[in-house]
Amino acid sequence: MSSKHSIDTKDFRSVMGNFPTGVVVITGESSSGELAGMTIGSFVSVSLNPPLAGFFIGSGSPSWKKIAETGKFCASVLSVDQEEWCWRFAKESEARFDGVPFTRGVNGTPRLEGSVAWIECDVDQVTTAGDHDFVLGRVTTLEASKSNAGAMTFYRGAIGGTAR
Ligand SMILES: Cc1cc2nc3c(=O)[nH]c(=O)nc-3n(C[C@H](O)[C@H](O)[C@H](O)COP(=O)(O)O)c2cc1C
Repeated sequence: MSSKHSIDTKDFRSVMGNFPTGVVVITGESSSGELAGMTIGSFVSVSLNPPLAGFFIGSGSPSWKKIAETGKFCASVLSVDQEEWCWRFAKESEARFDGVPFTRGVNGTPRLEGSVAWIECDVDQVTTAGDHDFVLGRVTTLEASKSNAGAMTFYRGAIGGTAR
C-alpha cells in the first residue's frame, strides 16, 4: 500500500488501472494537413450548456502539438471490434493511419469508421495539469452510430467491451 506522502509511479498506474474507462481515438490535422491521432482513455463529457467535452494528454505529445495547430478534433468512440486501432494509435509510428478506414467529419477531421460515436470539437481552452494538459473542446457536431456494436472498455491494462 502507498502512503499519501510518497506515491510510487508504478503503484499509481496499477491502482488507477482499476478504474475502467471507455476508449476514444482523438484525430485532427496540422496546419500543413498532416493527419494526427492518439488513443485516449481520459475523454470526458464536461458541460451541457455550453456543450463541452475534454481529455488529458501528456505534455509534449507530438500528435497533440499537430492537432493544436488547427484547433479542431474529433473523438471517435471505439467499438469492441476496433482493438487494432486502439493499440495502433498508442504506439510510436509515422504511419498510424495506414489502412485505417475513415471519413471526414463536418469540421473536416477524420472519423474512424466502425466506431460507436463521433464527437467533433473546437479547442476552447488548454490547461496545464501536472505532466498532462487538459484540452477542453466546444462540441460542434456529434453523432452516434446506429449499429449494435458494444463500446470498448479498458480495465487493468486489458481491452474489454460492453454488451451493446
Ligand atoms: C487504452 C489507452 C488509453 C490511453 N489514454 C491516454 C490518455 O488519456 N492520455 C494520454 O496522454 N495518453 C493516453 N494513452 C497513451 C497514448 O495513446 C500514447 O502515449 C500515444 O503515443 C500518444 O500519442 P503521441 O505519442 O503522438 O503523443 C492511452 C493509451 C491506451 C492504450
